[in-house]
Amino acid sequence: MFIKHLSLSNFRNYRSAEVGFQPGVTLLLGPNGQGKTNLVEAIRYLSSLNSHRVAGYQALIRREADGAQGASALIRAMASHDERDVMLEVELNTDSQNKARVNRADVPKVRDILGYVKTVTFSPEDLDIVRRDPTERRRFIDELIVQIWPRFAGVYADYERVLKQRNSLLKSARATGTRGASLSTLDAWDASLVKYGAEIISARLDLVRRIQPHVFQAYQAIALANNEPKIIVKSSISATGFMEEDDFGLEATSGNGVQGFAELPTDRTELEDLFHVKLSEVRSKELERGLTLVGPQRDDLLLQLGNLPVKGFASHGESISYALALRLASIELLKAETRTGDPILILDDVFAELDEGRRNRLAELIASNEQVFITAADMGDVPDSLKMKRYDVTAGEVSQHE
Ligand SMILES: Nc1ncnc2c1ncn2[C@@H]1O[C@H](COP(=O)(O)OP(=O)(O)OP(=O)(O)O)[C@@H](O)[C@H]1O
Ligand SMILES: [Mg+2]
Repeated sequence: MFIKHLSLSNFRNYRSAEVGFQPGVTLLLGPNGQGKTNLVEAIRYLSSLNSHRVAGYQALIRREADGAQGASALIRAMASHDERDVMLEVELNTDSQNKARVNRADVPKVRDILGYVKTVTFSPEDLDIVRRDPTERRRFIDELIVQIWPRFAGVYADYERVLKQRNSLLKSARATGTRGASLSTLDAWDASLVKYGAEIISARLDLVRRIQPHVFQAYQAIALANNEPKIIVKSSISATGFMEEDDFGLEATSGNGVQGFAELPTDRTELEDLFHVKLSEVRSKELERGLTLVGPQRDDLLLQLGNLPVKGFASHGESISYALALRLASIELLKAETRTGDPILILDDVFAELDEGRRNRLAELIASNEQVFITAADMGDVPDSLKMKRYDVTAGEVSQHE
């Protein structure tokens, strides 16, 4: 798939922009702070309704020089696959509900535009996936799940709604001490929490199973090392004892198991049963804290190289290769599991961070993708083989380089 045309208005530092694109590699060049990342962020937003830089969407709406926020931002893109075009629009509003349109027709929910555009973004922050908190790894896997199975956007929204309600119920039960009365309501919420939660855990297991061989291959290709990357879902519902989120981390592993965690069943009903059991185990703690303590919001992926976790053990170079392998594997997975051809690749400032070997290997691995956007402040960072169509980005304006 490729983006044929992009219109932005009041998006980030773009007052208004109209840019046509072609398949192949597109280079976006310009000094720092001109709007290169903002432009690719707009494309990415259509595929995930998330930014790789900020939570929420208010920061995406253009602010005037004095900081005053505009009323709304618009991203409009013509995406093309197999000679068929689809026009996608997202309108982000400061004071009213956001809206989305597909081929100029309003869709009931903004998330209904997911599934048309698929992207894989490489950025220097990818290192956070392998090195930092579980939040980063959950975000990585959940975004991929939504791109492959767009209906999951609804499941995540349902889960979050239930989680929020359940948390406020736990909080008020703690405050008022009216345990007996709220407990029956809690049971009702538990059922929904378990239903959506088990669906999410099950999708994560499924996704990990599918991406695993691609990560293995990608790692060998980018690192030129014969090391074995492995991904294991570590779920709070299978922790043998109760774990604080901070305790997640440097567990030793043996075989496919992780110390302190029982193996997760793949069957959905069994997952639900396990979730229920775990909830009853932690109930008194939850009432004490006023917070839901188990579920996909507290799960993690254990990323391993050989038999050691990457986090805390891998070298800097190995961590970089692992992060690149996760993105490269995402490309292969999206190609294999969806019907819209190649995902659009976004390489936001990545080449500057890489040594020459990885730079060239990465260039080689992505060059034949249907469409690739590369941002760079310095032309010298970009491998020669990728210097194709060039656009200059200056203060929120994009122009094709002569
Ligand atoms: N909502 C907004 N309204 C107006 N300007 C914004 C908004 N959000 C970000 N900006 C501005 O956009 C600019 C950053 O743009 P962007 O991140 O795209 O830069 P870049 O060209 O990628 O630079 P670099 O090479 O440093 O990565 C900053 O000057 C920032 O102040
Ligand atoms: Mg940038």
